[in-house]
Amino acid sequence: MRVAVIGVGYVGLTTAACLAHLGHEVIAADVVEDKVNALNDGRIPIVEEGLEDLVQTGLEKGLLRFVHGSDRAVPEVDFVFLCVPTPQDEDGSADLSYVEAAAATIGPHLRPETIVVNKSTVPVGSTHVVERALQRDDVFVVSNPEFLREGSAVHDFLNPDRIVVGADSATAAIKVTELFSAIRTAVVVTDPPTAETIKYASNAFLATKVSFVNAMANVCEAVGANVRDVVLGMGYDKRIGSAFLAPGPGWGGSCFPKDSQALVSIAEQAGYDFGLLRGVIDVNRAQHQRVVDRLTEMVGGSLAGQRIAAWGLTFKARTDDLRDSPALEVIKRLTDAGACVTAYDPTHPSGFESFSVAGDALSACDDAVALVVLTEWDEFRWIDLGKARARMMAHRIYDTRNVIDPLAARRAGFTFAAVGLAG
Ligand code: UDX
Repeated sequence: MRVAVIGVGYVGLTTAACLAHLGHEVIAADVVEDKVNALNDGRIPIVEEGLEDLVQTGLEKGLLRFVHGSDRAVPEVDFVFLCVPTPQDEDGSADLSYVEAAAATIGPHLRPETIVVNKSTVPVGSTHVVERALQRDDVFVVSNPEFLREGSAVHDFLNPDRIVVGADSATAAIKVTELFSAIRTAVVVTDPPTAETIKYASNAFLATKVSFVNAMANVCEAVGANVRDVVLGMGYDKRIGSAFLAPGPGWGGSCFPKDSQALVSIAEQAGYDFGLLRGVIDVNRAQHQRVVDRLTEMVGGSLAGQRIAAWGLTFKARTDDLRDSPALEVIKRLTDAGACVTAYDPTHPSGFESFSVAGDALSACDDAVALVVLTEWDEFRWIDLGKARARMMAHRIYDTRNVIDPLAARRAGFTFAAVGLAG
């Protein structure tokens, strides 16, 4: 089938490349011309496993191409996927201006009967906002939320746990499910507001799991238990499951913070005070500060003038995304307290003003009085801790991701602490 994708960020690019991989003819559009040119040359602007290969294969087979401007992408297609950002507004609600602008631009160029599929995460009721912005009564608008994790987005698209389609028209819903007919999975067909709610509920529940385990980690520290084994013991219970129970410095990224805040706003506007979710967000903020407090304690009560090494800057491993990264939030609090931070991340980001970035993990340790691990990159699991120790002024590690073996760290001569590990 012929498909247009509007917006080639993480979601749009993955959607475009995967739909081409499934055999559809895809035209993807973006407003940034340089990005479009690079993509037509087979170069992708993000770190995402398997995505560059799919883009290159799609281009070679003639099933995928990129154009500048959404009006040029839509006149010949049967489906249009809206994959534009929905950032957080000042009051915590989702900003729909990109979605509305994209719909208004494509509206006049659509063929009758085109199905406009909204993949952007939008407040409940936004399908109707898109319908209004399109100013067409001869096309369909369908909600088809994405559940893609950065770092495994291609895998998640092609092997989803479920596909959710929210449509007022049964015909449009069936046509959208046919697009994915090569994928074997559960399909939930429902109305648009319910589909939109499923997306928010899923992210809010996952964020709740992580905040729960972060709070449990703090309890473990207080009562002398080991959170790693607590999670192991809980996870075998099929009703609980072991996923999303890894404690850390708090959750972040482009979705959890904005979507959980947006759901609190959506509920509030509808007259319900979602105290549970507000609590989940509060636990997350407190977790950032807890990392700073424990480090302060480790280095003797004050961070002023102390040199700290930080491993990991991205919001999780296997992505180069720094948006709402807990690592950056922790480092900001460290430098605000007077610490001098040298960081390292395997994706080599640059351009930070308040701290410096080293070219490798060991160089980041030079003259530091403590090392804090903030992202769970595999590289940190296997590093020679003896070499790190030799470069440091004092020998302390605080591991917020539980990637370093406590025994190995203590054997290498470190004072070692980790999230959820007593003693
Ligand atoms: C998330 C959802 O998983 C995905 O379904 C949705 O569509 C987009 O948002 P993503 O933002 O890529 O995906 O990140 P995810 O893997 O969910 O992690 C979110 C945050 O939680 C990260 O900061 C991560 O480090 C943290 N996390 C996750 C933990 O601290 N512990 C865990 O066990 C899992």
